[in-house]
Amino acid sequence: MKRATLITVATLAAGVAFAAEPIRIGVCGPLTGDQGKQGQDMLHGVELAAAEWNARGGVLRRPVEVISGDDQHDPRQARSVAVKMVNSGVAGVIGHFNSSCTIPASDVYTENDIVMITPASTNPQVTDRGYANVFRVCGRDDQQGRVAARYATDVLKVKMVAVLHDNTTYGKGLADEFKKGLGAGVTVAYYGGIVQGDLDYKAILANVKAKSPDLWFFGGIYPEAGRLAKQAREIGLSAVLMSGDGTIDPEFLKIAGPAAEGTICTFGPDPKRLPSAKAFLATYVKQYGEAGPYSIYAYDAVNILLEGINAAKTTSGTKVAEAIRNREHHGAFGSITFDEKGDVRVSPYVCWKAEKGVFVPCDAAVSAR
Ligand code: ALA
Repeated sequence: MKRATLITVATLAAGVAFAAEPIRIGVCGPLTGDQGKQGQDMLHGVELAAAEWNARGGVLRRPVEVISGDDQHDPRQARSVAVKMVNSGVAGVIGHFNSSCTIPASDVYTENDIVMITPASTNPQVTDRGYANVFRVCGRDDQQGRVAARYATDVLKVKMVAVLHDNTTYGKGLADEFKKGLGAGVTVAYYGGIVQGDLDYKAILANVKAKSPDLWFFGGIYPEAGRLAKQAREIGLSAVLMSGDGTIDPEFLKIAGPAAEGTICTFGPDPKRLPSAKAFLATYVKQYGEAGPYSIYAYDAVNILLEGINAAKTTSGTKVAEAIRNREHHGAFGSITFDEKGDVRVSPYVCWKAEKGVFVPCDAAVSAR
């Protein structure tokens, strides 16, 4: 496990001398491997916020130390990373990325009275289990799937669709929400799962093509989405690909190449259009390059956690969770408040489209609820 070395750097920069023990914050997700880009985006968002807190004098006059844990998007690994976080004495965790990891890891954090805020896990079960210490700053797949389905039905006016998923908690869950939200006049001509990590999806894509859908939906993450899009083009499946937050990443565009063009993904609104995100984006770009889809969510999540510790004047999980739930947070994404489950009260999903090698927000809007 790698320990970030930010404290020294940030402390020296601010000329602040810390006498007390650091407050340790875990950041957990797929930090290496095929989804490593998403994990690194989260880590960078957390590191940036921690450095800013340290430059201002830390939290409760203690420096913030970031400890990272790599779950490699494997649920079993996520559980063991969570145990390591507990043993490292973290006061809170930002993570995990994949719902399939966040859910088992959250059991460990709950048993040990540790607050966990996921920037990215959208499966309803993350917060529907009623854990008081669990929060998320992103939206939920029941909303996201509905927005995608409404867009396909009302804006694209599709009549026949195929639905694929990667057999994960997130991917299958999102695909099912999409299917559920489609209008009465839309036929699901094909429904099936793929194996994560496989390199050749042409056989399943040929089955999709045989149904001549107007659109095919994929619930999953960008490595598989990229290969699916590329291979769909190779076998002559030209219907529109629609997917979710797991696909909207520059890595998808790289893997799919020209076949990415026209792909539609649901995600949150564009931070570049938000005045509140301006300072974050400027600093992030200078330090790490272009912000990833979830960098800003991780940045807001850790600020919410550290403000919670500050307000509670303790690192006790129960008290910090209470403080988080009772406050209005002003982050890079604007105002954030949580409901009793730990979900954000407002999480608008919009559609984005790959155009000329970048994702741009679509102009037509559909409502989330
Ligand atoms: N939203 C994706 C998940 O929940 C990243 O797994």
